[in-house]
Amino acid sequence: MVKDAIHEGLTAVEEQLRHIVNSDVDLLTDAGLHIITSGGKRLRPQLGILAYLAVGGQNLMEVVPMAAAVEMVHTATLVHDDINDHSLTRRGKITVHAKWGRTFALLAGDYLFTKVYELMAPYGPDYNVIMADACIKLVEGETLQAAAAKAGVMDRETYKTIISRKTASLFEAAARMGAMLGGGDEKSIEALAAYAYSLGLTFQIVDDILDIVGDPEEMGKPAGLDLAQNRGVMMAQNGGHSEVADADVAVAELPDDPIARMMAQLRESGAVEIARLQAEETGARARAALAELPDSEVRDEMLELIELVLERNR
Ligand code: IPE
Ligand code: IPE
Ligand code: MG
Repeated sequence: MVKDAIHEGLTAVEEQLRHIVNSDVDLLTDAGLHIITSGGKRLRPQLGILAYLAVGGQNLMEVVPMAAAVEMVHTATLVHDDINDHSLTRRGKITVHAKWGRTFALLAGDYLFTKVYELMAPYGPDYNVIMADACIKLVEGETLQAAAAKAGVMDRETYKTIISRKTASLFEAAARMGAMLGGGDEKSIEALAAYAYSLGLTFQIVDDILDIVGDPEEMGKPAGLDLAQNRGVMMAQNGGHSEVADADVAVAELPDDPIARMMAQLRESGAVEIARLQAEETGARARAALAELPDSEVRDEMLELIELVLERNR
């Protein structure tokens, strides 16, 4: 039953997203639809819907525009992030900048971002401030990441700050707003926000692990990008160094390509296992936050989501 409600909410979000990108400037509609219809796990809108249902929200349509707005923020940042990361594939398709060029990709990202105002306007100031705060943190996180990569400094503290801002903040905002819209009390709102925040950290750590061990086909985006750009959880484990001097791999067995070489060395260095433990720890924190809520079918779904995030390969 809860699964049906989630499905209903996500279907409405999907319609909303397709509808909202329409512009009489065809390029914006085309680029917007290109990224929106290319798949995507829709994890953030799902968190908004789950939090709404968890506190007993009854009218899903109340939460749909907010959930769509959160996904829109995420989508806009992906378009811009792929320019910054020089990435050519996203969700198994060509990236917007690779197809339309950098100028139009910047504009398409701006366009998607601007649509967030439209979707969020009816909710009033409190919700808009939460959304704005998450967007600010996200941009700060991406900026800190670029600065750390440039300086070649990626210790664990810096890494934690970066993933907290660039990823966990938006997860948290989605759940917080969902719980508020559903009429949750203070304790439930904070528990759901804490759950989503820790889930967001877990999600990003696993994403960064997949950059080293994942299958690009399965992920629909390239691997090795973080390493190529001096960042990610592996760099954090490795004190910000791209070389893993003591990795026990015979040099003759390593590939010629420098990035593939670093990936192979990191896989042997134990850094993946350390990152894995960190993901387990943040996953456990997400579980602990849910313990504050009464037992329910929705809570079971949220617990299940932690396992899915920990086990995911895409
Ligand atoms: C990608 O997010 C960016 C990260 C925070 C790692 P997702 O993996 O949620 O992207 P889609 O929406 O499913 O493509
Ligand atoms: C994506 O971050 C953008 C944000 C989280 C804001 P990443 O660069 O870590 O994710 P991918 O690997 O491109 O999906
Ligand atoms: Mg990227």
